[in-house]
Amino acid sequence: MRLEKHLLSILESLHDAVIVILTDSTIVYVNQAYSTQFAVPAKKIIGRKLTDIEADARILSVIKDGKPLINDCSYVHSLKKDVCANITPLMENGEMIGAVTIMKDISEVTNLQEELTKYKEDLLQLREQLDRRNFSKLESRAEDMQKAVRLSKKIARTDATVMLYGESGVGKEVFAKGIHEASHRNSQPYIPINIASIPDSLFESEMFGYEEGSFTGSRKGGKKGLLEMANGGTLLLDEIGEMSLNMQSKLLRVIQERQFQKVGGTKFYPLDVRIICATHRNLSDMIRNGEFREDLYYRINVVPIHIPPLRQRKEDLEYITRNILNELCLKYGKHVRLEDEVMTRLSQYDWPGNVRELVNVLERMVAVCTNSFIRLSDLPDHFFLNIPHEESAPYQPRTMATTLEPNSIKLSELLEQTEKDHIEFILKNSKNKTEAIRTLGISRKSFYAKLKKYQIF
Ligand SMILES: Nc1ncnc2c1ncn2[C@@H]1O[C@H](COP(=O)(O)OP(=O)(O)OP(=O)(O)O)[C@@H](O)[C@H]1O
Ligand SMILES: [Mg+2]
Repeated sequence: MRLEKHLLSILESLHDAVIVILTDSTIVYVNQAYSTQFAVPAKKIIGRKLTDIEADARILSVIKDGKPLINDCSYVHSLKKDVCANITPLMENGEMIGAVTIMKDISEVTNLQEELTKYKEDLLQLREQLDRRNFSKLESRAEDMQKAVRLSKKIARTDATVMLYGESGVGKEVFAKGIHEASHRNSQPYIPINIASIPDSLFESEMFGYEEGSFTGSRKGGKKGLLEMANGGTLLLDEIGEMSLNMQSKLLRVIQERQFQKVGGTKFYPLDVRIICATHRNLSDMIRNGEFREDLYYRINVVPIHIPPLRQRKEDLEYITRNILNELCLKYGKHVRLEDEVMTRLSQYDWPGNVRELVNVLERMVAVCTNSFIRLSDLPDHFFLNIPHEESAPYQPRTMATTLEPNSIKLSELLEQTEKDHIEFILKNSKNKTEAIRTLGISRKSFYAKLKKYQIF
């Protein structure tokens, strides 16, 4: 068969568009697919110069430098289409006589690609919004806390085991829930377990469940364990430091093998659970004392996150208090606000019980409060024992005995003198003026007015 005879019909049968031009850019051929794809009848363009139609056409550069272009994607203005083309010089007796382009309309692909990019950007924004919402309670101005939140957001979408360290009541569970909500497991169960609350004798059956008939009195049909209940989701092992050594070795095996057996069973169940552990104890000390397995420690301490105590992030106290107060107002159907001096006193307190203690104090006050303001006198007594700056010199304002003649003293003078002394004392013992204002429980305006009045600089 002489293929040359059939070349034209081969070109006509192609689904890709073909255009042939001569070196002077005259269009000499377009196939049927070209006319169909770009809605340009052949007779309308054959004989015309491509330079007049599309001066920047890529085929013209091939004519110019004789180099073919493979998988070359470009936008054709005259056609208003994105195309992907293979462009080859046409040679005759070693001389270039023109070029041929075989191309595909990829506008749809380009549009889809643009749409995909847009969706990706939207998704990223939504994720950030969601992250902010999941961790919104934990927003902080304290650097260490910001670090902990940043790390939590970053690892939330992975399956890495997380170890949350922090004193009791700092919000370890809030972090764990935030991580779960921001993870791809968020539609699956989140099961928090307080290890300390499970007696050692029940640990295995609670954790792994049991098969039917595994012991006298066992439930018909067996029982699902916590691992099975958390399947596909997240398991929080709270107070992991309280786990007995025996249980630690059982947990280690499960984590290592990523599968578990129920009590009294032989079947292995795969473990598809993200594990988050939490403790207020120092696990390194426990390892040294032989109370915690080192190998388990390395298995769970993959991403350690340290949550600072509330006393080290006092700058967040107002924000946290406002959030908790809003929640409590909803719970009790009240509208209650704190007087400024209450906030001041709260910020002077050390919060050994961290945010949990704050929640308790606020709840007690909101619950018993009969008007819309919580006053200093509503605070529990111990808030008045722990006055700030105990380590600094005791407060000894000058009195009439030292500076004024007792018999000639006017009450107004005494009050002014005392006020001046007190402001000076507080200023000396505060980190900055904002703290002094807060401690004094007066407005910024009246604070500066008093500095001016008493010429305190
Ligand atoms: N940043 C916060 N904003 C509002 N409430 C918070 C915040 N952090 C913690 N809480 C609240 O404080 C209480 C204690 O938090 P959580 O149970 O997470 O602490 P924990 O570190 O797990 O304590 P423990 O070690 O005693 O188990 C909870 O009621 C929680 O909702
Ligand atoms: Mg907890």
